[in-house]
Amino acid sequence: MTTLLLTGIAELVTNDPQHDGTPLGLITDAAVVLEGRRVAWVGRRPEAPAADDARDLGGRAVLPGFVDSHSHLVFAGDRAAEFAARMAGESYAAGGIRTTVAATRAATDEQLAANVARHVAEMRRQGTTTVEIKSGYGLTVLDEARSLAVARQYTDETTYLGAHVVPPEYAEDAAAYVDLVTGPMLDAAAPHARWIDVFCERGAFDDDQARAILLAGAERGLRGRLHANQLGPGPGVRLACELGLTAVDHCTHLDEADVAALVDSGTVATLLPGVEFSTRSPYPDARGLLDSGVVVALASDCNPGSCYTSSMPWCVALAVREMRMTPAEAVWSATAGGARALDRDDVGVLEPGRRGDLTVLEASSYVHLAYRPGVPLVAEVLASA
Ligand code: NIG
Ligand code: FE
Repeated sequence: MTTLLLTGIAELVTNDPQHDGTPLGLITDAAVVLEGRRVAWVGRRPEAPAADDARDLGGRAVLPGFVDSHSHLVFAGDRAAEFAARMAGESYAAGGIRTTVAATRAATDEQLAANVARHVAEMRRQGTTTVEIKSGYGLTVLDEARSLAVARQYTDETTYLGAHVVPPEYAEDAAAYVDLVTGPMLDAAAPHARWIDVFCERGAFDDDQARAILLAGAERGLRGRLHANQLGPGPGVRLACELGLTAVDHCTHLDEADVAALVDSGTVATLLPGVEFSTRSPYPDARGLLDSGVVVALASDCNPGSCYTSSMPWCVALAVREMRMTPAEAVWSATAGGARALDRDDVGVLEPGRRGDLTVLEASSYVHLAYRPGVPLVAEVLASA
């Protein structure tokens, strides 16, 4: 297989602590050798081995491609009017999801796929090389299955979120809807999904319903994750920890017991600061989580309601400015942290044998991601898939 030597890397983020004793594993004046789709070597340029081809990246910073572990890209329409009303004083409520459900049901498979393709391309231009995509705007057997089949065309990290909200036709009988989600809808969704998720929140599903749905998914080989403690305190985070889930997402309203449960279980807390920005809400206590030893991931939550951004660089900038994460912590959480949240060991870290997914910045340091918010800093993305 052909090898390619990349030089002219002013600063390389590897996320392999052996290089500098910090989680980011920084190497200055670095080089990377790619062999086909994999990393073959990383280190200091003067020590680089020979390769078949070579490229000089011109003194730029390079980091692992962003791993966006939480998005809802299978939808039709938008909710710009709802956003404008919110910015004029209305508050965010889970019920807005039903607007997108109606538009998604009315869309063809081709329209849904074109929308996913457009957003995945937008993410790629901003440095994202791995993305998780949820269903959850279909909420019928057919519409959840086709949403996941569409998502599968773009990623292996697909998540069945039939339990997003109770759709209007089941408004009077939530128990019957949970039976559908854990029965025929699960049967139709499982072949296209790796994960199962529940919006465990007042106005959506309670902890008993969430437990039943996650356990039904587990019986079908789907791994669990949860939306929890987004809009207010609740039992979701503790449920995620009790079930030993890989990740629990939002984590905006936590008490001490929730944080202790996260520490004990090792469940990754995925923070989505674009949601708090776009709903004008208080941010999660990232500092408290990090200082307690919780593993934190950052993701976009790209969706037409609570947060319509596809930009991981912007999430990094928000995490630093609004949640007091250091630039190093935020970049780790958006790369290695996202990989941990998806239980992936082939992405998020640049070391021999891992995927050669690289984001090249039009800047000499990763710090510019937070220092220059809103600036299109991604010069190039080298990705293996
Ligand atoms: O992660 N919290 C639930 N689901 C999405 C919002 C979806 C919507 O508003 O359309 C979220 O924020
Ligand atoms: Fe979400």
